[in-house]
Amino acid sequence: MNTPPIYLDHQATTPVDERVLEAMLPFFTSEYGNPSSPHTWGRAAARAVRVARRQVADLVGAENELEIVFTSGATEANHLAILGAALAARPTGGHIVTTAIEHKAVLAACQRLVDHHGYAHTRVGVDRYGQVRPADIAAVLTKNTVLVSVMHANNEIGTLQRLAAIAETTASRGIILHTDAAQSAGCGLLDVTEAGVDLASLSAHKLSGPKGIGALYLRGGLRITAQQTGGGQEHGLRAGTPNVPAIVGFGAAARLATSDAVPSPGHIRALRDGLQDRLTTALPGATVNGHPHRRLPGNLSLTLPGIEAADLLDRIPGIAASTGSACDTGSGEPSHVLTAIGLSREQARATLRLSLGRTTTANDVSRAADLITRTAYLLAPALADAV
Ligand SMILES: Cc1ncc(COP(=O)(O)O)c(C=O)c1O
Repeated sequence: MNTPPIYLDHQATTPVDERVLEAMLPFFTSEYGNPSSPHTWGRAAARAVRVARRQVADLVGAENELEIVFTSGATEANHLAILGAALAARPTGGHIVTTAIEHKAVLAACQRLVDHHGYAHTRVGVDRYGQVRPADIAAVLTKNTVLVSVMHANNEIGTLQRLAAIAETTASRGIILHTDAAQSAGCGLLDVTEAGVDLASLSAHKLSGPKGIGALYLRGGLRITAQQTGGGQEHGLRAGTPNVPAIVGFGAAARLATSDAVPSPGHIRALRDGLQDRLTTALPGATVNGHPHRRLPGNLSLTLPGIEAADLLDRIPGIAASTGSACDTGSGEPSHVLTAIGLSREQARATLRLSLGRTTTANDVSRAADLITRTAYLLAPALADAV
């Protein structure tokens, strides 16, 4: 019998937890009501959405569940946050600040402000670990700055940003702070109050929930402009019949993420550290990207000099992983994140992203380390001589 490939791409997406699926199923079949309907089915659906809203609010430490707006994912949440908050604060001629390593969804939303609303956009650089200095953000703020958007955890190198320090500056100047927390929320790493953010984008499929559902955390009292209007759903901020099964799934996934019923982030970190140790010992020329400590527990971004990461992965069908981020894969361009931390084009192409998650086992780590090491030696014999 063939052994199934080892899934090391949890930052691209995660498998839906069976308990999440179980919670969702009745909402496709028997509990199919529209939450806006004034009858038994409608009321049951509305109740289920209310419970899920509370569960997602609890995941990120939101005080009030009405601070959660369900969207189709983090891409939409990023657009609603950035366009919605900026345009409500200043319809034209404002200034928006991000880091250079944001997800493309954030950068694209900012570009819309530039192209259609006369905004200026400043991208602040990061250090070699991918961290932005709060002082560098403070230095570029102007009287026109309405919004700062800094991702909580990077999707390629896993680095976590010091949001609370950035929030001190933005809050003191009345500037809105948004964070793309698609990668970090499932690890229980985001508390919106501690982080001091006004807006946070979330995605269910990064935390064992279904694809196509996410949320925007919106601090109570903050006014934003809806980007999709019509039926007035989601407090008038996101029209369209809510995807009740997916919302219920997101809620269940959020509850699981903070429970003892799933492997802890500490467990995943220990497995990741084991894989990192094995690979960097066997391949001494390899370098680890991202912050040594302030990094997502499952992330391992490795640069293997002299090797094309895409070629390496092609030769190891037994491992499902990615080069750079899944979103950049296929564009042919080196990742903007890897070049922003100082990697050359060649080094960026030699970079592999292995991301571990709740389903990863010690056996997966051991097999993956062997497969990668053997193939790397084959492609770059010099790596073997270096041992
Ligand atoms: C940091 C980050 N932001 C946004 C997204 C997009 O999320 P979604 O797939 O829910 O639209 C992703 C997913 O890859 C991500 O990693």
